[in-house]
Amino acid sequence: MWSSSSSGGWHLLATFAGVSSYGAGAGGGVDIGWYAPASTKLNNITAVVDGTGGVYDFIYNSSDTTRYGTYNWCNMPHVRKTEYVKAAKEYELVYVELIHRHHKRTPYASNAFPVEPYHWNCDDQGLYFYGKPIDSKRKTPAAQTYWKGYLSAINPFVPSGWIGTCQFPQITTAGLDDSWQHGADLHDVYHDLLNFLPSRDSEKWRDRVVYRVTNNLITSQVAGMVINGMWNASREVPLLVQASTIDSLEPKYPCAKASFLFDKIKSNERWKEHLNAAKPLYSLLDNISGVPVTDNGFHEGLDHYYDNLSARQCHQKPFPCKIVDGKNDTSECITQDMANKAYRFGHWEYSHIYRDAGEMALTASVASFGVWIAELAEHLREVMTEKQHVLWYHNIAHDGSVSRLLSVLQVDEMVWPGMGAEVVFEQFYKKKQTSGGGGDGGYFVRVLFGGRVLTSSNPSLGVMDMIPVETLLGYFDGLVGRGASLVAGKCGN
Ligand SMILES: *[C@@H]1O[C@H](CO)[C@@H](O)[C@H](O)[C@H]1NC(C)=O
Ligand SMILES: *[C@@H]1O[C@H](CO)[C@@H](O)[C@H](O)[C@H]1NC(C)=O
Ligand SMILES: *[C@@H]1O[C@H](CO)[C@@H](O)[C@H](O)[C@H]1NC(C)=O
Ligand SMILES: *[C@@H]1O[C@H](CO)[C@@H](O)[C@H](O)[C@H]1NC(C)=O
Ligand SMILES: *[C@@H]1O[C@H](CO)[C@@H](O)[C@H](O)[C@H]1NC(C)=O
Ligand SMILES: *[C@@H]1O[C@H](CO)[C@@H](O)[C@H](O)[C@H]1NC(C)=O
Repeated sequence: MWSSSSSGGWHLLATFAGVSSYGAGAGGGVDIGWYAPASTKLNNITAVVDGTGGVYDFIYNSSDTTRYGTYNWCNMPHVRKTEYVKAAKEYELVYVELIHRHHKRTPYASNAFPVEPYHWNCDDQGLYFYGKPIDSKRKTPAAQTYWKGYLSAINPFVPSGWIGTCQFPQITTAGLDDSWQHGADLHDVYHDLLNFLPSRDSEKWRDRVVYRVTNNLITSQVAGMVINGMWNASREVPLLVQASTIDSLEPKYPCAKASFLFDKIKSNERWKEHLNAAKPLYSLLDNISGVPVTDNGFHEGLDHYYDNLSARQCHQKPFPCKIVDGKNDTSECITQDMANKAYRFGHWEYSHIYRDAGEMALTASVASFGVWIAELAEHLREVMTEKQHVLWYHNIAHDGSVSRLLSVLQVDEMVWPGMGAEVVFEQFYKKKQTSGGGGDGGYFVRVLFGGRVLTSSNPSLGVMDMIPVETLLGYFDGLVGRGASLVAGKCGN
């Protein structure tokens, strides 16, 4: 299923490429206007509603990566040795920054049905959580303590939502395995294949790599496994984290204007039409799950049902049946068809919120994720001024982070980024050709999404395969300002 072409996309053939531009402005000759994404089944409400069978050719029921390159909600494709396309030999890789969503997890408590038919337990792992003095003169190391969730026989209170020994959310054991493999695959490419990263055998990698997480603990749960997949580290590794109220990666800094715009996007005419089109599905799901029609969280979009059902499916747990007098009524259960429709709606919603809603979508993402964009831009700059010697900057984040990034990059086919969904920025140095012509040298960037070159609808970015770094920086600077100087203003702070 892997496309041999260098261009990305999920093989949903575009019927036309959108070209309308709003507010195109200059960023050093770079067009920073919004351009419509391709028109595909993903953002076609008729196809969402009428679609029968599956969810395009997407996978929802296993982390298996045999059909690599295919969208897999449970375990998205990432850079991997067997499929990796090497750059032409005149390009020397000098820096890699990547960001990916955490791996598969239990659902969030807020996504639970009023009565869940089964417990969800996590006794097969520990969440290691402890403080330890670094360089303590007293040499008093901490014990390796971990959280063990349990159900008290005495406590009469029942949590709303999921019941079990897991945290909701928590990366599941299968998600931890996927995280380790993700790290191992990255090392296979960037060490074994490219000899860019140091080997595992020495400690040389330690001051060449940076790992960053968000304040949501599930990203740290993933980090431990990803890092050992990459390095099999024999001692501790720091994880950068910003203060919880201003974290640019999650993102969490105050940005009223972005919230206002996202609310507007989720209440415009197209959004209302899609909720209307979803009514028959809602009445089926509500009836079986017992979610009241007045529950706004479940009814402002299909997001909660999507998360609720897909988390079960990725972990081979059954769809719930109607619970009548505390018993399953197995004649009325949520079906795969219902789930598939919810999933198709989910992709439509992500495409609408982050891409189709026009300039507003771009502005909202730029404002709410602009600080991280400016941080990335500065890293790319520092490589060129040789101010830094970090080779590898690794961000572990959320669908909200990856979606906003895809929105800023104006990806031509927007999907809901599934578990582990990855965007990689590879920065290359191209030597000046001394004879025979063929280029002026300089720095270039290739952007990979799901392991393949990302295509942007914005003509200045286009197929993001070796675009001059100045173009990308001009684009970023034009939108967020150097040092994120435009972000506070765009947030209305
Ligand atoms: C949307 O999908 C429907 C049904 O599959 C199709 O008839 C229609 O042409 C599509 N619209 C666009 C704009 O592609
Ligand atoms: C997942 O679904 C596909 C298509 O519906 C099916 O062929 C496959 O056997 C399923 N895999 C698992 C692990 O359930
Ligand atoms: C699914 O939704 C139900 C109904 O609100 C909720 O009780 C349950 O916790 C949700 N489960 C997940 C995994 O989101
Ligand atoms: C990891 O390192 C340990 C020694 O610290 C070694 O015994 C083990 O085989 C290594 N595991 C892998 C998967 O390389
Ligand atoms: C729920 O399903 C039952 C059984 O199919 C049906 O009798 C009832 O009318 C449904 N309720 C709603 C609100 O759709
Ligand atoms: C109810 O159904 C679920 C599957 O939806 C199953 O896991 C659970 O064991 C059932 N409970 C009872 C009491 O039959």
